[in-house]
Parts: sequence; structure tokens; C-alpha cells
Amino acid sequence: MSAFRKKNRRSRKDRRSGEERRKFDDPKFKGPGTDIIREQKPMKRSIKLTVSPSWDEIERVRNESDEFLRSHMLPHDTVDALTMVISELIENGVKYGVFKSPENKMIVILNIGQSVITVEVINPVDETAHYHLTRLDRAIQWIRGHQDPFEAYIERLKEVSKRPLHDEESGLGLVRIAYEGGAILDFFVGEDNILNVSAVSNLEGEFWR
Ligand SMILES: Nc1ncnc2c1ncn2[C@@H]1O[C@H](COP(=O)(O)OP(=O)(O)OP(=O)(O)O)[C@@H](O)[C@H]1O
Ligand SMILES: [Mg+2]
Repeated sequence: MSAFRKKNRRSRKDRRSGEERRKFDDPKFKGPGTDIIREQKPMKRSIKLTVSPSWDEIERVRNESDEFLRSHMLPHDTVDALTMVISELIENGVKYGVFKSPENKMIVILNIGQSVITVEVINPVDETAHYHLTRLDRAIQWIRGHQDPFEAYIERLKEVSKRPLHDEESGLGLVRIAYEGGAILDFFVGEDNILNVSAVSNLEGEFWR
């Protein structure tokens, strides 16, 4: 008799409702909770921002980039350094870009790769920008000519300290990007007179998640 009872008695597990049983016992069951996890979108690895050439926009881009970088769990120091890189490149875009009509904007692209983060700032130029493009080229070559960007930074600081205080072109921005941002600078002028300046920072495998 007891054997009979045992045979016909539903175990605690079996007394659960059909839905519950499937939820816990069937590995393929897609409960509501499971769906939430499965439907989570992968984190965006890059953002593209369209920016008007005004100083007010710099703060907005700083905030949006900061939020994007932090969402990838990058260390605070790295986020701060990259935010500085972005600010310096946008400032240069505002100062030296050629914006002839309101439709002329800058584009800022941030991309988080497996081992590098790339910041690109794109702005229109024309033949009047030749003087500054030559300076940009020289500055980048000069920085690259130093094995340690810290040396370039110190050299530049010494020069700047001799200049008048109101000098707007202190020439510190790019060297800060190289040293404090640990970034390799490059640029090219594409078709339709579009300047693309990029700064590539090595993550040294420290924090890609
Ligand atoms: N986006 C750009 N378009 C054209 N020329 C540029 C651009 N960015 C930099 N340059 C040229 O390269 C020079 C060096 O740039 P850098 O940012 O190092 O210094 P700065 O803008 O002169 O001064 P700071 O950044 O310290 O205010 C600039 O003076 C300018 O002539
Ligand atoms: Mg600058």
C-alpha cells in the first residue's frame, strides 16, 4: 500500500503548476525574466555627435562623451583624459575650422575598440586654412619626433611661459593630447575639404569589458 501511495503520489516538484514546472525544469523555457536578459541590447561601441561651432557646444559634447565613456566602466582617470582630448580637438575645430553657413557643422566620433579608443573630430576647411593646416602638420610631426611625449610637453611649456598671457595660440592643446591623453595624433583632408583629426589612445588591455 505504501508503495502504491508512493507510486501515485505527485512529488512536490510535480504539484507545481505547468507553467512553473516548465520555468524551472526546461532549459529552453523563456520566462519573462529570461526575456529581459536576452533582449538587452549590446552596449554601443561608438557614438557620433553633430556639433555646431560654438563654445557652448563644447560642454554638451563633454557631458555626452563622459556619459558614454562611463557607461563602459572605464576608470575615472581615463574618462577625464579622454574628455580633455575631445575638448581640445573640438576647441581647435571651432577656432580653425571654416564655417561658411549654418549647415556647416563639426562631427565628433568616439569609438571604443578592443584595445584602443579613437576620437575623431571632423570639420570643414578651405584654401584659407592652409596656414593652420601647415602648423597642424608641423605640430603633429614635432610631437611624434619625441620618443616620450612628456619631453615634448615640457619643451612646449617652457616656450609658452615666455609668451604674452593673451596669446590665443599657445600651442599646448595637441601636446597635452599626446602626453596627458596618451594618444597618437593624425589628420587628413578628405574630399570636399573636410578635415579629420584623430587621436588614438591605447587601452593597454586594462579595461575593455
Ligand atoms: N582643427 C584644426 N584645423 C586647422 N589647424 C589646426 C587645427 N588644430 C590645430 N591646428 C593648428 O595647429 C596649431 C597647434 O594646435 P594646438 O591645439 O596644439 O595649439 P593652439 O590651438 O594654438 O593653442 P591651445 O590649444 O593651447 O589653446 C594651432 O595653432 C593651429 O595653427
Ligand atoms: Mg588648441
